[in-house]
Amino acid sequence: RKKLTILNINRMYKHGEPISMMTAQDYPSGLMVDRSGIDICLVGDSLAMVALGYDSTNPLTVDEMLHHCRAVARGSKSPFLIADLPSGSYEVSPEEAVRTSLRLVKEGNMEAVKLEGGKEMAGTIRRIASVGIPVMAHIGLTPQRQSALGGFRVQGKTAKQAMNLVEDALAVQEAGAFAVLLEAMPAQIGDYITQRLSIPTIGIGAGPMCSGQVLVLNDAMGIFDRFVPKFTKQYANLNQVMTSALEQYHQDVKTKQFPSPENTYPIDQAQLDKFWN
Ligand code: KIV
Ligand code: NA
Repeated sequence: RKKLTILNINRMYKHGEPISMMTAQDYPSGLMVDRSGIDICLVGDSLAMVALGYDSTNPLTVDEMLHHCRAVARGSKSPFLIADLPSGSYEVSPEEAVRTSLRLVKEGNMEAVKLEGGKEMAGTIRRIASVGIPVMAHIGLTPQRQSALGGFRVQGKTAKQAMNLVEDALAVQEAGAFAVLLEAMPAQIGDYITQRLSIPTIGIGAGPMCSGQVLVLNDAMGIFDRFVPKFTKQYANLNQVMTSALEQYHQDVKTKQFPSPENTYPIDQAQLDKFWN
């Protein structure tokens, strides 16, 4: 497979070809995202919840993120690689945001970063973009700010909220974001923002008219099923597949059905005779 760059992403957008994006959090998932032909691989901070078992994305540290980025990058060679800036690693100052972004690129082998926020992050987006790191902005439902939002809730349901989302989208575009992720908003608002912008929108729960779509791998594969957001489509139920396979293994061990001869190493009879004597 050919390596995708930001130029390929921009070209898809120009030609109206929908952009596919999926998260990954380790070497095997990165490899599978690569082999499936998906355009963008995101090391999302959702891995805090779906891979590490935290209750929210907020506890994730930059070092933890880097550990996962490196693993994904070893498996995902063709997709364009984006990493989330973990909460607490970019909000305090644009300088700190640049520093963290550089770490994700240099130590995490990522190509671009994503951060949560709209107009209030414009200066930060501009600074990161100015050092040559492409920035994707993330507006609407911003999970790192769930306390302020009152939980994982759909955004832009009132005219005023929807207008704020449009302003956010225009502000991050103006600041130099190369794309905007739209999370959990009515389809009409996702459509309107997509039409207003001249950069791609990537939707998750933002309707079918976005320039592209993203899902969280462990949700879409049915690995993480503690709760399933409305916007998730379960393309597989790997939790069920793996749990019943593990039950089978457990039973096989208990009943000595495993290992069978084909999983067992032979030895020459002559060597065995010597061994016994
Ligand atoms: O962390 C994540 O997985 C995300 C999703 C919205 C794709 O940001
Ligand atoms: Na995220």
